[in-house]
Amino acid sequence: LSVALCSTLTVCLPQPRGEGPSASGLPSDFLWGVATAAYQIEGAWKEDGKGPSIWDEYSHKPGNIDDGSNGDVACDSYHKWQEDMEILKLMRVKHYRFSLSWPRLLPDGTKGSLNTKAVAYYMNIIKALKDNGIIPLITLYHWDLPKTLQDKYGGWLNESIIPLFKDYAEVCFKTFGDQVKHWLTFNEPWCVSVLGYEVGQMAPGIKLAGTGAYRAAHTILKAHAEVYHMYHEKYNTDKSGKISITLNSDWSEPKTKTAEDAEAAERSQQFSLGWFAHPVYANGDYPDVMKWTVGNRSKAENLNQSRLPEFTDDEKARIKGTFDFFGLNTYSTNLITGAKTTGAGYFQDIGVASSKDPKWKTSGSSWLTVVPWGMRRILNWIKQQYSNPPVIITENGISDRNTTIPGIYRDYWRIGYYRGYISNMIDAVVKDKCNVIGYTAWSVMDNFEWSRGYSEKFGMYHVNFSDPQRPRTPKESSVYYSMIIKANGIPK
Ligand code: NOJ
Repeated sequence: LSVALCSTLTVCLPQPRGEGPSASGLPSDFLWGVATAAYQIEGAWKEDGKGPSIWDEYSHKPGNIDDGSNGDVACDSYHKWQEDMEILKLMRVKHYRFSLSWPRLLPDGTKGSLNTKAVAYYMNIIKALKDNGIIPLITLYHWDLPKTLQDKYGGWLNESIIPLFKDYAEVCFKTFGDQVKHWLTFNEPWCVSVLGYEVGQMAPGIKLAGTGAYRAAHTILKAHAEVYHMYHEKYNTDKSGKISITLNSDWSEPKTKTAEDAEAAERSQQFSLGWFAHPVYANGDYPDVMKWTVGNRSKAENLNQSRLPEFTDDEKARIKGTFDFFGLNTYSTNLITGAKTTGAGYFQDIGVASSKDPKWKTSGSSWLTVVPWGMRRILNWIKQQYSNPPVIITENGISDRNTTIPGIYRDYWRIGYYRGYISNMIDAVVKDKCNVIGYTAWSVMDNFEWSRGYSEKFGMYHVNFSDPQRPRTPKESSVYYSMIIKANGIPK
């Protein structure tokens, strides 16, 4: 630890020992990084001209966030980004994944409202990253839609916002494109669509069961394709840039060895990851099983009840192949069995029941059980479904809750999680020849975990949210992760 930083930290941990390159078998240019997102860390929610986002509005409504908190201050990274930079340097990350806040850059959502203070803020971060040899990997949309666009258009339910997203992306490419060569259009469109527009458990909190998710997803896929093409046609002139989308999926493991459960698990996998991946990485269209269940088949039976929007042939051609790598966020595994469901809704459409093996270790999040082999299986599924694309794991990590000292800092369960998941990723690369080129841990520090507020902590650095200074303190996992980076694999 540098002396300067060390003196500001409560716990001073030893530097990783100098292991040489491991025999892990990973390529020497393997990317190791950490991730954050604007609304979860920045704070400064109405400073320097920033406009309101749907998350500002949603989190301010009583009852929406478990602990009644919000992201008004969060980790205060808007003011403390230099300290964050020191942490990234100490951890020796090769890339840093973070998101730009659309309403900070364009307070009313449109390109005419460009906020120069926001440009300066992100430019400083990007410059500092580059000065320190850290590759910026930027997410354009990590859920904080300008509130104006939700109010005026209904957000992602309305395809009129596609040109506005394109305008915003263009501002970002024009402003930062010389410096930044790694981009993601959307983070986890599944969460935006299902949690934001179907069940209403995330901003904007819309509940349109059976239709909302499919409509939002349709708009997002088209918006992604437009931005992908614009980037390559106008802004990636030296061809060194890469742009993709980041999809989330946990692994669906058949609960029993029956053919029915195998089919149910595959259906579940197609409804979560395939929904977005099949259009982009396969043929420009939704997986057949979704079309049979929610779309075309009902039409064929003349029920006229298709709830799955359809792409035209031109649109399919435009969406197909809009990737330079496969961005994957993955955390856990579920046991899947076929189930009869009633009523219209995305979850009912899948027709499965999901459960957990009671033997699996748990975490601070109800959905997150520790199943390291799920990592290897999902990577193999992607390899087999989409012809082994280059994969960057853009998020993976574990939460805890209600932890007290010394457990906060001695987070051996997080170390175990990373060891297990990363070992399985290495097996997928070395033994199964899955083309994984990078891994990004979520997250560098504790932050605002959306509707869970500050009750679930994913950080490798602790942040004291009761202290107005928001001091950051390393947990042991941050040292372990930096040893993994140094060893380019699991340290001996
Ligand atoms: C998914 C999201 O991208 C991120 O914002 C969230 O905090 C983590 N996973 C953990 O739930």
